[in-house]
Amino acid sequence: MATSREKLQRTVREKLKNYQVVVVSNREPYLHYLKEGKIAHLKPAGGAAHTLDSILQACGGTWVAYGSGNADRKVVDEQGKIGLPPEEPAYTLKRLWLNKEQADGYYYGFSNQALWPLCHFVYTRPIFRQADWNCYQQVNKMFAEAVLKEIGQRKAFVWIQDYHLALLARYIKEKRKDVICAQFWHIPWPNPEAFRVCPMKKEILQGLLANDMLGFHVRYYGENFISTVEREIEARIDKEKTSIICHGRETIIRAFPISVDFQKISKEVDSQPIKERAVRFKEEFSLSGDLKIIFGLDRIDYTKGIPERLRAVARLLEKYPQYKERFVFIQIGALSRVRISQYRDLNDEINDLVEEINWKYSTENWSPIIFVRKTLSFPETLAFYRLGDVCIVSSLHDGMNIVAKEYICAKNNLDGMLLLSRFTGAARELPEAVLINPYDIEDFADRIKQALEMPEKEKAQRMAKLRETVADNDIYKWADKFISELAKTLKALRRA
Ligand code: G6P
Repeated sequence: MATSREKLQRTVREKLKNYQVVVVSNREPYLHYLKEGKIAHLKPAGGAAHTLDSILQACGGTWVAYGSGNADRKVVDEQGKIGLPPEEPAYTLKRLWLNKEQADGYYYGFSNQALWPLCHFVYTRPIFRQADWNCYQQVNKMFAEAVLKEIGQRKAFVWIQDYHLALLARYIKEKRKDVICAQFWHIPWPNPEAFRVCPMKKEILQGLLANDMLGFHVRYYGENFISTVEREIEARIDKEKTSIICHGRETIIRAFPISVDFQKISKEVDSQPIKERAVRFKEEFSLSGDLKIIFGLDRIDYTKGIPERLRAVARLLEKYPQYKERFVFIQIGALSRVRISQYRDLNDEINDLVEEINWKYSTENWSPIIFVRKTLSFPETLAFYRLGDVCIVSSLHDGMNIVAKEYICAKNNLDGMLLLSRFTGAARELPEAVLINPYDIEDFADRIKQALEMPEKEKAQRMAKLRETVADNDIYKWADKFISELAKTLKALRRA
């Protein structure tokens, strides 16, 4: 029987056979940097780029992204291109260069101080600066020029990723109406009440509606988007087709919950090198035999609920002191967007909390919390999944959350449990996890206890169901559904 990866390859061959496929995102899948005078590469932290890398490896194509590594320019050809993945190139990355001012205004400014907090409902105020918006427009235009140059006169399908590029489809269509553009929005879409404060709301909505299709993780975000459009601009909603018609152009709105490479993770996690890496981690962190390992793995971002998680661990120890010396909580945090003050403040808050909790509860031979500030490589991540008895995902708001799904893939022996925030997109698909409200520290602490004490049989049953869900909708199926849906609704593709 064909695998989901092979089926996707067939879909791309059949439906997009006359089209050049170009994926566009802000974040690149591999970043090159200088390490002890030599050029090394790493995969940046964050879900979106990882998952798309698997798809491009399977199907080939071109990926246009911002080259942000300090050695990125050293490894590309004269057109800014490089074959990826570095070990066995299967697709082409075209890097686009930004100067500091552009990166500040477009990435740190409008993308991450305006749109990110606007779309995540976590009580962090968005900041709208005109200068950032100018940069955002300018950089979206630069991406459009790079894409147009790439496709030349050919027919093309441009698959746009995320909130950094809300104006891209419009700029592309202004020059080439026939290019098919579809965008996937990797973060939540807020309700109209929240979105209405954005001074640039009309331009953003019109930019997104230049796409032929717009995808969200869950139906609820799509509904929020439609209500926002209804409220803010003149457009006709076709409820039957779930589409929006604006300026005579139709955009279909669909939900596609993103996923991970189930087969790859579940196979690799049991490989010898990963087993050995896990053993080394145990030695490194002095994790002796019967200590239960609870862990969290996130970018250090205020949406992830890391302080809430630490407080819940502290509350557990306060309420149930018998858990002292029975577990250790390891938080792995990848530094992220540190030019933004809220991210730096969060780092300080986490440091202080870890210090305080360890001071209060440590015994002679044991400290409850280990905080590792590091971007783990993929093998290291898998080693952690192997070790973890309980994985905590406590986001205050999260489009999907990839860690939750990856952890499930890694538990081949059904011997782990996932604590999952109700406010993630993933919670809608994964009700067999132990669901939590990260704001409710009291209940959160009890849920950690529940996961620690869960009978093996119940754990195995829940995990088996969770694995079935993720295996049934892996990353290749996600992409397959996206492309097939586009092909079904677009006349141009039906004729291809
Ligand atoms: C989220 C976004 C991605 C982004 C990732 C990492 O998952 O949806 O588009 O790449 O965060 O953030 P960064 O700012 O480092 O790219």
